[in-house]
Amino acid sequence: MRTRRPIVVVGGGVAGLATALAAAPAPVRLLCRAHDGSGSASALAQGGIAAAIDPADSAAAHAHDTLQAGAQHNDAAMVHWLCAQAPSAIAWLQTQGVTFDRDADGGLQLGREGGHHAARIVHAGGDASGAALIHALRARAQAAPHIQWRGGVEVDALLLRDGRVCGVRASDGQGHQDEIEAGAVVLATGGIGALFAHTSNPPGADGAGLALALAAGAQSRDLEFMQFHPTALDVGGHCLPLVTEALRGAGAVLCDAAGQRLMAGVHALLDLAPRDVVARQVAQAQRDGSTVWLDARAVTGDWRVRFPSVLAACLAHGIDPRQAPIPVTPAAHFHMGGLATDRDGRSSLAGLYAVGEVACNGVHGANRLASNSLLEGVVCGRRLGALLAGPAGVGVTAAGAQRVERGAALVATELAALRELLWQAAGPQREPTTMRRALATVAVLAQHGWQARLAQQLLLAALQRPSSLGAHHCSSA
Ligand code: SIN
Repeated sequence: MRTRRPIVVVGGGVAGLATALAAAPAPVRLLCRAHDGSGSASALAQGGIAAAIDPADSAAAHAHDTLQAGAQHNDAAMVHWLCAQAPSAIAWLQTQGVTFDRDADGGLQLGREGGHHAARIVHAGGDASGAALIHALRARAQAAPHIQWRGGVEVDALLLRDGRVCGVRASDGQGHQDEIEAGAVVLATGGIGALFAHTSNPPGADGAGLALALAAGAQSRDLEFMQFHPTALDVGGHCLPLVTEALRGAGAVLCDAAGQRLMAGVHALLDLAPRDVVARQVAQAQRDGSTVWLDARAVTGDWRVRFPSVLAACLAHGIDPRQAPIPVTPAAHFHMGGLATDRDGRSSLAGLYAVGEVACNGVHGANRLASNSLLEGVVCGRRLGALLAGPAGVGVTAAGAQRVERGAALVATELAALRELLWQAAGPQREPTTMRRALATVAVLAQHGWQARLAQQLLLAALQRPSSLGAHHCSSA
């Protein structure tokens, strides 16, 4: 019998936790940057989980909306599978201790978000769904005997033997490094929003896992497709609080400085048009010199129950959204591209897997449909965990393995410059000349740090797609 080595899962967001839990009884080492496993983008997710629960709705209709938002660039079979799994994902989450919001009849309360033709967003704690999921799944993972949790470490190298990933190097920031042999390495490290000047993501969404995998020679896919959320709170700075799309589902509308409806005549779904369409309209209004406002004063019900996260963020900046419009701006939100994987999460490197936002299995196409990301994290995480609980997770020895490092990071001033460059060149509105100029600057920065090498890959991918598709909106030179 071959020795079973632990499955190393890097990242404590929803996808990493779901993978780790589903791998039982195989031993799992869960490695996170923060000591308490916090800091994932999942914890900030406000929307919820899309699932065709209403008897008048169907998985086919959910899939139709997912494909339409994704500009049909999706892996259609994967989309149909994901949407069909959504109701059972909700049921599983309930068994894990997640309490979803219910309506007066006791049924699951279903919200509506952009690109959906039906109310099918299941949420928990109002607009605090991601935090509710993380809270429940983290408690389960911490209590699970097969999971050994280690926080406060950075995975900065992969161990490779005969072309197979067989472990990681984890550094604790105090000069102590550990090499951990692994039956399989799962990257669940999240997206790259923090590489842009404005993002709804936490600072840790910097693409570190993706950069490491690419340094080891793994294949990427669709790197150019970055989603920009139309409504982050416009209070200046890098990581901005999100103003959930569910508010527009509840009646909030976007207006320009003159108080005119921004989405009138732009799309049949008005303020609930797909995110890329709305984000571009907001960005264009800003370019034209207008501040953009989300007027949510008509939203009914108790904000402390329905939208506690938005209310708290606005009040912290002296804005009461019940009384006054909210200033909003687009912000980098979700990376549809990433480490190329098959439907199970296998990367092109044996022994290396990816799940959640760092992965690109094709399900989101060129633009992710709202509230499909927590869904993907749960469903694909459980699928991958179950796979790795079997022979796929056994692996080989790391004796004599080669170390592939991510390499040095940019210094703070270089990183700030890179974020600004990416925002200007690869933001909601792109244009080849600007992207080519940015690429030349990024090529210099790429000699100094891995973030710039990742940005270089993104810009190259974007330049290879001269026409617009989904979230990649490219006007001609
Ligand atoms: C939102 O609440 O607007 C974001 C939900 C999502 O990204 O799916």
